[in-house]
Amino acid sequence: MSTWSPSSWRDFPIKQQPVYKDPEAVKKVEEELAKFPPLIFAEEARSLQDKLADVSRGEAFLLQGGDCAESFNAFNADTIKNLFKVLMQMAVVMTYSSGKPVVKVGRIAGQFAKPRSSDFEAKGDVKLPSYRGDIVNDADFEAQAREPKPEKLIKAYYQSAATLNLLRAFARGGMADLTKVHTWNLDFVKGKALGKRYEELAEKITQAMDFIAACGITPENTPQLHETVLYTSHEALLLGYEEAMTRIDSLTGDWYDCSAHMLWIGDRTRNLDGAHIEFFRGIKNPVGVKVGPSMQADELIELIDRLNPKNSPGRLTLIVRMGADKVEELFPPLLRRITAEGKNVVWSCDPMHGNTIKTDTGIKTREFHNILAEVKKFFQIHKAEGTIAGGLHLEMTGEDVTECTGSQSCNITVDTLADRYHTQCDPRLNANQSLEMAFMVSEFFKDLHK
Ligand code: PEP
Ligand code: CO
Repeated sequence: MSTWSPSSWRDFPIKQQPVYKDPEAVKKVEEELAKFPPLIFAEEARSLQDKLADVSRGEAFLLQGGDCAESFNAFNADTIKNLFKVLMQMAVVMTYSSGKPVVKVGRIAGQFAKPRSSDFEAKGDVKLPSYRGDIVNDADFEAQAREPKPEKLIKAYYQSAATLNLLRAFARGGMADLTKVHTWNLDFVKGKALGKRYEELAEKITQAMDFIAACGITPENTPQLHETVLYTSHEALLLGYEEAMTRIDSLTGDWYDCSAHMLWIGDRTRNLDGAHIEFFRGIKNPVGVKVGPSMQADELIELIDRLNPKNSPGRLTLIVRMGADKVEELFPPLLRRITAEGKNVVWSCDPMHGNTIKTDTGIKTREFHNILAEVKKFFQIHKAEGTIAGGLHLEMTGEDVTECTGSQSCNITVDTLADRYHTQCDPRLNANQSLEMAFMVSEFFKDLHK
């Protein structure tokens, strides 16, 4: 195979990139970005890979979640804090039921660029370039808004840096303290049966904390009780941006994409001959690949060999997103083949992207029932095959939005979707639905031991 460099992807065919009017301006922006400080430190990416290796052995569980697309307009402390709190709630619920640590990875602090099913969007006689995320252009259906603007890459960098700064403050500064589990319950969750269920669990944890405090183990003397780690991740779609953020680690001499701890390749850009696979093979971060219905077993084996030639545990997470109605047919053959060939991977379930539908009025939504069904089947398949259901990958928010229909905790219908439909791109689980999902997954954990 030819030698790799952060720019070697430029010699390969590439999909899903914006067409900028002024390529020189893009080049200038990329040169500027390349001088900016990295957002993460390579050692952190290695620690995430170690934890994902635990996941691959069934000794931990991966929870990855956040917006489909972060937005410049919705950027504020509350949305970051609320997502942080819900991820913490879900993690304690799942840790309590499984007895295993939960590795928390946000789709945040860089999740801006979106692949689209069509390069153009037409309304009546007007045809404009598709919206590709706030890092590229604006969502409004208007010619000027849809023009890709290179300076947005810089704005995305700064928003990522500020977001990551606050997340690090929450994680280390006391928000994750296990004596504060009650405070993670959000106001609009509290009053409901689900909120009460969480309160009961929080009470048990509080009692356990009181007990161990009486034995001398407290958040003051035991950092694990006081702080957590929330890693960041996004789809590395815009390779010009990712290349600019790719740096040599001074400790090991290896290349790391320092825009996030973990990067993944989307289902639309994972073709073996393409630029994305070329870029990913050279970066040392833990990486993910979305595995959708068109993936063939031979293709997947080849992809694994390219991205993880040393078969290192924790390096590669396969994020399966088949759809509730297809997963039982399409997933087991892939799982069997990869298991038979002894490949070390983390198997994670994305129950969102195979279950997107459009309402009669043209709103994109997902039915909670289908999302849950795919997760349940994912667990059942692993149980039947004797393999490990390692993680969950969700599009979710800590806000009280109405984007996915159904669930027991909030009865959103097709008619009420428009009430608080705020997503930039795909419909997300709201805080109630996310917490409900965590409790359901806890049931699946219990079922594994029956
Ligand atoms: C996404 O995760 O937002 C996405 C576009 O997913 P996929 O590549 O699986 O379609
Ligand atoms: Co999405």
